[in-house]
Amino acid sequence: MTASNKNFASDNVVGASIGILTAIAAANGGAQPSYGADDWSQRVERRLREVFETDLDVLLVATGSAANALSLAALAPPWGGVLCHEESHINNDECGAPEFYSGGRLLTLAGAGAKLDPTQLRTHSLAKIGDVHCTQPTCVSLSQVTELGSVYSLDELRTIGAVCRERKFRLHMDGARFANALAALGCTPAEMTWKAGVDVLSFGATKNGALAAEAIVVFDRSLTQELAYRRKRGGHLLSKMRLVAAQMDAYLAEDLWLRNARHANAMAQRLAGGLRGVTGVSVHEGGDANILFCTLPQRISDGLHAQGFHFYGDRWGPGVVRLVTSFATQAADVDALIAAAQRLGSS
Ligand SMILES: Cc1ncc(COP(=O)(O)O)c(C=O)c1O
Repeated sequence: MTASNKNFASDNVVGASIGILTAIAAANGGAQPSYGADDWSQRVERRLREVFETDLDVLLVATGSAANALSLAALAPPWGGVLCHEESHINNDECGAPEFYSGGRLLTLAGAGAKLDPTQLRTHSLAKIGDVHCTQPTCVSLSQVTELGSVYSLDELRTIGAVCRERKFRLHMDGARFANALAALGCTPAEMTWKAGVDVLSFGATKNGALAAEAIVVFDRSLTQELAYRRKRGGHLLSKMRLVAAQMDAYLAEDLWLRNARHANAMAQRLAGGLRGVTGVSVHEGGDANILFCTLPQRISDGLHAQGFHFYGDRWGPGVVRLVTSFATQAADVDALIAAAQRLGSS
């Protein structure tokens, strides 16, 4: 029986899917070529080509920050700027890694729901172009799912892709929660990426069931060689890569990635539905995948914490908290939080 879980702080507070752990154990025996020349790495590349319905290259790494920083280093020269949202993980939560790896700068923009606003993007993309004194915007990075839990629609992605094409910028997608976004939109991986203009994708797996596995998926293959050197130079080419590749292989096999994401999203919807019925609680619009934002009366927030529920608040304004569900969240965990909130709301 699965132990109850009161931790809604993030989707990385749980361990890995059993299928992933089993795959690591299965890949453990015998000798295999190192540094990504193993059978699993080759298979993952083939599988991702099928999934995305196109030729592409894959570079596996162990963290999402490495995937983002390496990708952006290949897209922005030292004098270049990455246009991104001010709420983005690359801006707030990677300790400057993208700037360290590229030497360029992040140029942040506002926008509702942590989404880039195409009008602002167009304006900023034109600012100070050709001025030798200024950082030159050269690419755009967006997060799908965003850090505020929203999901770009295909039209929104295509519009941003079109601005990038107009300005001759390349487009990076931080897909730490790619599967959750895909499950929310119900579209194909191709539609959500290269067909909308994405050149490089950080394809996350860790938050959705892997132990430590992320893929840099390169649609613009002219970038691959540079990325390969950057990965090695940056210390992210793992010698026992087969144990990372085995995770990604199992993640993609039998649609584990989609099943996990659909489950996590369904748990978030269940949570949203239950909390909407609690007096004084307001569930914010835009929690389209597995991240919900709510405003809770202080007594409910304090009471839930006192009962051992864990979630983050403070950062997003008075009373605003973030609740994240994962592949491992059980319906009973969600119902326990709703019931506790109801008791606190009516006391
Ligand atoms: C949107 C987003 N991108 C990237 C990452 C990076 O992940 P990691 O902690 O593996 O570096 C995270 C992790 O929280 C994230 O939420």
